[in-house]
Amino acid sequence: MSWREWIRTVEVEPSLYGADFAHLGDQVESLLRAECRVFHFDIGDGHFVEPVTMGPIVLQAIAPLVHHHSGVFDVHLMVESPAKYFAPVAAAGGDSVTFHYEAADDVPATIRAAREAGLQAGVAFSPETEPETVAAVAADADIVLCMAIHPGFSGQPFREETFARVERLRTALPDVPIQVDGGVNADNIRRLREAGATLFVAASAIFAADDLPRAYRRLVQTLA
Ligand code: DX5
Ligand code: ZN
Repeated sequence: MSWREWIRTVEVEPSLYGADFAHLGDQVESLLRAECRVFHFDIGDGHFVEPVTMGPIVLQAIAPLVHHHSGVFDVHLMVESPAKYFAPVAAAGGDSVTFHYEAADDVPATIRAAREAGLQAGVAFSPETEPETVAAVAADADIVLCMAIHPGFSGQPFREETFARVERLRTALPDVPIQVDGGVNADNIRRLREAGATLFVAASAIFAADDLPRAYRRLVQTLA
């Protein structure tokens, strides 16, 4: 399936930022065996967010394995000047880019630039940004990402106000798939679904477990 088709379904997306990088290929393979097909890849630049995370050369190393199993890569750009990264991400095997509202001067133009690079386009927003403000400029996006933490690090606690923020976003943009990222786990995923989200990113809830496929399937089953 293409990313365009995946975003119309309900998906749990492992965030590779939480992976054990010494065993990245093995961990991705174990999740593919558990029928996971959408992977989230965080690029942080040390400016928009404090940490430098990982970049196109890591994506390029792992994308063939995921694509071989008909999977897709959803790339979350936690960076200043996001459009600079579109061509390198596309060349490395990314399928979509989600850039931050707070980092883009012109959201519709940045969406167009992503599509010109052959990518699907998402718009993310941080806890200090109002959902309606983003909705006003993101109606044309393929997905909108409501952050449930301040972007930057895995392992932060889920912010409880996210449920209401997802509901507000759902009201403002009834037709755009909503993704949630940050602190997503088996205790909050179902309520996030009820609030209107369909795409759930999870690092710690999967990679901190001893049995990754089991942790992934538990989240999927909690949604069923
Ligand atoms: C950090 C990243 C997230 C992160 C989520 O801001 O955007 O994707 O990996 O990690 P958890 O699920 O542990 O909050
Ligand atoms: Zn992310």
